[in-house]
Amino acid sequence: MKVLSVVGARPQLVKLAPIAAAFAGTPHQHVIVHTGQHYDADLSDVFFDGLGIPAPDVHLGVGSGSHGVQTGAVLAAMDKVLEEERPDWVLVYGDTNSTVAGALSAVKMHLPVAHLEAGLRSFNRRMPEEHNRVLTDHCADLLLAPTEEAMRHLANEGLAERSRLAGDVMVDICLRIRDAVAAGEHPAPALPPGIDAGAPFLLATLHRPDNTDDPERLSAILASLAGLPVPVALLAHPRLVARAKEHGIELEQGSVHVGRPLPYAGLIAAVMASAGVVTDSGGLQKETFLLGRACTTVRPETEWVETLEGGWNVLVPDPHRLPAAEWSALATRPAPQAPRGTPYGEGTAAVRVVELLEQGLRG
Ligand code: UD1
Repeated sequence: MKVLSVVGARPQLVKLAPIAAAFAGTPHQHVIVHTGQHYDADLSDVFFDGLGIPAPDVHLGVGSGSHGVQTGAVLAAMDKVLEEERPDWVLVYGDTNSTVAGALSAVKMHLPVAHLEAGLRSFNRRMPEEHNRVLTDHCADLLLAPTEEAMRHLANEGLAERSRLAGDVMVDICLRIRDAVAAGEHPAPALPPGIDAGAPFLLATLHRPDNTDDPERLSAILASLAGLPVPVALLAHPRLVARAKEHGIELEQGSVHVGRPLPYAGLIAAVMASAGVVTDSGGLQKETFLLGRACTTVRPETEWVETLEGGWNVLVPDPHRLPAAEWSALATRPAPQAPRGTPYGEGTAAVRVVELLEQGLRG
């Protein structure tokens, strides 16, 4: 069996790591196509090096652009690759512009498409990721769902027959790296200057267009972080840096100390060292849950609803609208005691994905 993975953005590289490792133990051929959606070393190369992912077989080099330009560039470049490779499966990951473009290019070439992390829904049609997820699910042949909730969404949209519960491959990689960090196999993370890893601090990330692109909103969210009673390590995504610069907004203020995005093991170590996380990232909400820290999510909804159970994750769409004391108490609350269960599986999803692809080919 020949499987061609299409990846391009940071969270897809994290998911690719366990999938590439699962293929490594099989006779199957696994071809990696990097679209180039993310190109900074911080967002791309460090994941290949740090997670032992084989170098991409093909690099499309599309770079940044408006949604149409970026999606269209991937779509146009994929024809030649798919013509040459003729894989048995095109495997697309998550919800980025690279995902929908990879899926559509394969469908148009009559090649079978499998969607990893199928069935997630925020029901927020303002999010580019929501369009990407819905369109990818409806054009894919095999829907690899991470959770029961995702299976229900797919069934509600008439896609039950093509859906399979695979579990979440992010658990595979998160738990593996957690254990390696605990065993001292990784150096201490490069936290922003001003953050003392030995004292309580919060870890923060912000990159959703809804939070970064409106200057008033971005200023207000930053002021909320700046006013917190503990130091905040803000790992700044290039979108956040670019938008803040464009609007003349200072990221480093009050309690906020700014650093660069971390490699994966560094991020896991930083979450483990932190007193809690404030974020708008999907992946980080789940990693924080898996690592047993309290997460505060600056969004009105989440696709990862299981993290909300027992108060492990709390949605705070507008922190600046809360009284300062209430916001501080929420963001700095201790990790809950409630049991978390294993809604995302046990860390064996990647092997299951390979099995489901094999079965799908036979069936
Ligand atoms: C993308 C995904 C989002 C995912 C996120 C993870 C889409 C629609 N969005 O958002 O789902 O959660 O990746 O990080 O696909 N930039 C750089 N260097 C890079 C990449 C981007 O400087 O290597 C800057 C550019 O200014 C670019 C901006 O970041 O315009 C946004 O990048 P883009 O790939 O469009 O979307 P993300 O915000 O990263």
